[in-house]
Amino acid sequence: MVDLMVRSLARAACIDDLREMARRRIPRFAFDLVDGGAENERNLRRNVEAFQEIALTPRYMVDVSSIDTQATLFGKTYAAPFGMAPIGMLNAFWPGADLMLARLCKRENIPYVASSAASTTLEELAEAADGNGMFQLYVSGDDSVTEGLISRAEAAGYEVMMVTADVPAAGKRDRDIRNQLAVPFRFTPEVIAQCAMKPLWALTSLRHGTPNVANYANLLQSATSYAEVQKTLITPGFSWDSLAKIRARWRGKLLVKGILHPQDAVKCAEMGCDGIVVSNHGGRQVDFGPATAEVLPGIAGAVSDKLTVIVDSGIRRGADVLRAHALGADFALVGRALAFGVGAGGAAGADRAIALLKLELVRALGQLGARDMAGVGSDHLTAAMPRPPL
Ligand SMILES: Cc1cc2nc3c(=O)[nH]c(=O)nc-3n(C[C@H](O)[C@H](O)[C@H](O)COP(=O)(O)O)c2cc1C
Repeated sequence: MVDLMVRSLARAACIDDLREMARRRIPRFAFDLVDGGAENERNLRRNVEAFQEIALTPRYMVDVSSIDTQATLFGKTYAAPFGMAPIGMLNAFWPGADLMLARLCKRENIPYVASSAASTTLEELAEAADGNGMFQLYVSGDDSVTEGLISRAEAAGYEVMMVTADVPAAGKRDRDIRNQLAVPFRFTPEVIAQCAMKPLWALTSLRHGTPNVANYANLLQSATSYAEVQKTLITPGFSWDSLAKIRARWRGKLLVKGILHPQDAVKCAEMGCDGIVVSNHGGRQVDFGPATAEVLPGIAGAVSDKLTVIVDSGIRRGADVLRAHALGADFALVGRALAFGVGAGGAAGADRAIALLKLELVRALGQLGARDMAGVGSDHLTAAMPRPPL
């Protein structure tokens, strides 16, 4: 059984292949939870397409016999210029996914961002990521909940925190509505029928127990409605004033995740933040919004001398990480790409996803004529190339 799995993972050539393997192993409601986006999923597709539409022009006759993919972020050197984005409730997609990914990121020396809404506590994830962990904060409608998370993150040893700004309202995800998805989880007859068709997922889930938002577990026991759960997790009242309070409170590096406008990025710099994540939540929030690749150059142009610029949303290939870098990003995060890996084959599948992204990255660097990330720049953007005189 395990052998068969390893053999089929080895045949996966790209992240899309892992996605397809995950789709076959996971009940529809759980697959849709990760795979889906807001409304028509236009923004979800636009993210992926916008990266893939960007042409980089190779330069040849550069000695690329030795290639170095390392990248530095907040003084720490990682093996690759990408890390795992925060994903809430990922254990519903594959049981035990959070810890598998945190441990793997440590082993592969890439960053792991623990979500406030993870299905494993931030303390357990800090231990598993062992120095490679960062913490993502959702600002709650209840200040004492937010303060509780911040002080726990501090005590757990996180040095970098990213506060997510792009959830003033919950995303409207049509697939989740059709699937009647609820937090805490509900086992409706439809859900039970879907689970019965995916026995390995069902048995593994039984062993791990029902996933929940672990950091809030005690609070949610008393919640009586979905609206109450939402209010505990996020607040539409999150404002620049709230950010100022968080900046004053958090002594470590602070990033704002979910920036799409250059003026918001400038304001983050003025407020003393250390970085931003140019992100649209992987197309899960605003279906009418722009792709991150479209807004990244304008944002990086405005703040790259003041802030660390990270980007996510739509990265599915190693070459996308190079595209992001050419557009001005210092670092990239990937969400679904690694989640699909876990869904396809647990820890071995996530390992395959990282290996594929790294393989593609190394090949693309060589093809581009760059020995390392510092060798990739805006001069590789085909659109920016000088035109010959007519
Ligand atoms: C299922 C799912 C759950 C997510 N949960 C969170 C979360 O808890 N906090 C957060 O800041 N972003 C969350 N995100 C957004 C990711 O951090 C990241 O921005 C996004 O996945 C990047 O797009 P990609 O999946 O195309 O790589 C989530 C994304 C997905 C797919």
